[in-house]
Amino acid sequence: MVERLDNNMTHSPATTTPSNETQSLVPPPHALVIFGASGDLTRRKLIPALYSLFLRDLLPEGAFIIGFARREKTDQSFRAELRKAMDDFALDGPVDDRRWAAFASKIYYHQSTFEDADGYRRLCKRIDELAAAGNVPPNVLFYLAAQPASVPVILDNLGECGLTRIGRTEQPWARVVVEKPFGRDLESACELNRKFRGVFDEGQIFRIDHYLGKETVQNILVLRFANAMFEPIWNKKYVDHVQISVAEKIGIEGRGRFYEQAGVIRDMLQNHMMHLLCLVAMEPPGSLDANAIRDEKVKLLKALRPLSHDCVFDEAVLGQYTAGAVDGRKIPGYLQAESVPPDSATPTFVALRAFIENWRWAGVPFYLRTGKALPARITEILIHFKRVPKVLFGAMPNVELTRNILAIRIQPDEGISWQLHVKRPGPGMHIEPTRMDFSYGETFATAPPDAYQRLLLDAARGDPTLFARSDEVEAAWEYLMPILAGCASRPERLEKYAAGTWGPDGSERLIKIDNRQWQLTRRMRS
Ligand code: BG6
Repeated sequence: MVERLDNNMTHSPATTTPSNETQSLVPPPHALVIFGASGDLTRRKLIPALYSLFLRDLLPEGAFIIGFARREKTDQSFRAELRKAMDDFALDGPVDDRRWAAFASKIYYHQSTFEDADGYRRLCKRIDELAAAGNVPPNVLFYLAAQPASVPVILDNLGECGLTRIGRTEQPWARVVVEKPFGRDLESACELNRKFRGVFDEGQIFRIDHYLGKETVQNILVLRFANAMFEPIWNKKYVDHVQISVAEKIGIEGRGRFYEQAGVIRDMLQNHMMHLLCLVAMEPPGSLDANAIRDEKVKLLKALRPLSHDCVFDEAVLGQYTAGAVDGRKIPGYLQAESVPPDSATPTFVALRAFIENWRWAGVPFYLRTGKALPARITEILIHFKRVPKVLFGAMPNVELTRNILAIRIQPDEGISWQLHVKRPGPGMHIEPTRMDFSYGETFATAPPDAYQRLLLDAARGDPTLFARSDEVEAAWEYLMPILAGCASRPERLEKYAAGTWGPDGSERLIKIDNRQWQLTRRMRS
């Protein structure tokens, strides 16, 4: 248990009051235009996050939201539909109808196909009119929540009608947020980057990855660089290996069509997991400037030992779940899911051993695994330190001192813990592993906020720190291309695992061969 020290105890002067701080976070007024507003993301994530920002006074006066989609709807029917969804997805408990009404009055619906040039001209006019009515500049934040295949035509049309305001440095500005996966492979990601840069400047493009918006992920850099004790031991001299696990209990649940196009490499590994790897292993940036941080992430990705096309399955294991049960709930196999062909070789699990060829990490394995239909929902980074030498306590008969582990619990039960050895009280010398624990819930008495709130706010404020830069995305694809190629050319290497187990046997073999084993601190089981 870790206690929070207040300012009196640390004698440091208070710098900002919460209300000052809130005020400084409010972005300038703008229109948020959501392409693909009828999709799941809008009702599950974006509107709940925006409503929470509104409740916290973080939506600027004069801001408004426009849902752009093909189906016929009115402003009223769109608002009613979103209100209904809030019963399931609201983040702050039951919705207060009076507050909702004030928020919903800022929401509009714009009907058009993505291809119709006239739809964009009408959009342009509507943004100008609504901004003028609110007496605010017509800044625009575009949110591309549409299918990846529709992105190029949306970009063409936005560019065509001048809505992207490329090259402008002052108001009214335009920015664009684009959902992952960014491309399907290195070539398509490079092509997409070129397409974006044809109509926007890099500084206007916000490639979103909701993992970067998680408090616990942001805290990785704070843990590493705001504490004096970690940096000196954060290297190959003291670290034996690192494990990053992102386990999900859910199967693909009605997302078969999407998942068949993605698979676990594009859905989780290329983005969420590579960001975790970068943050945990990168060098300290020279400043907190967005580009300084992203430069270090790119350097790290470029320092990864390339995977060999011929021997990729020595370092990577792919799996696909079959029928089983998670928490007693039956889960049909991946091949039985809707829109999945019966002979699909799409992986739902991957385990990977990665090496970073730089002075800090050479020789230290980083084991990464992620999968669907596993026994627990848990994302955790474990830094395993080297064993103590075989003298003193390490030399005692019948004592096997395990490695010290620093566990960064990304979710759930967010927190950090140290696994240490202590002497059990008593006359003899009995040494036991124990845990020193920091938990967000206990220390701050509140769960960390949803990632989309933070990311929407940052995009509207023009802060790209928590978004991926083009070279970062390309470097991650470049590293993973041999695995994608292996998936396509060697489908027989896909191993099956029953839903509710920790992935295929190959995943255990991958780490056991190095005399190590997968671990999870939260439940202390592998
Ligand atoms: C999304 C993936 O990006 O992340 C999903 O598309 C996955 O397949 C989800 O379930 C996991 O996010 P979280 O925040 O629940 O770990």
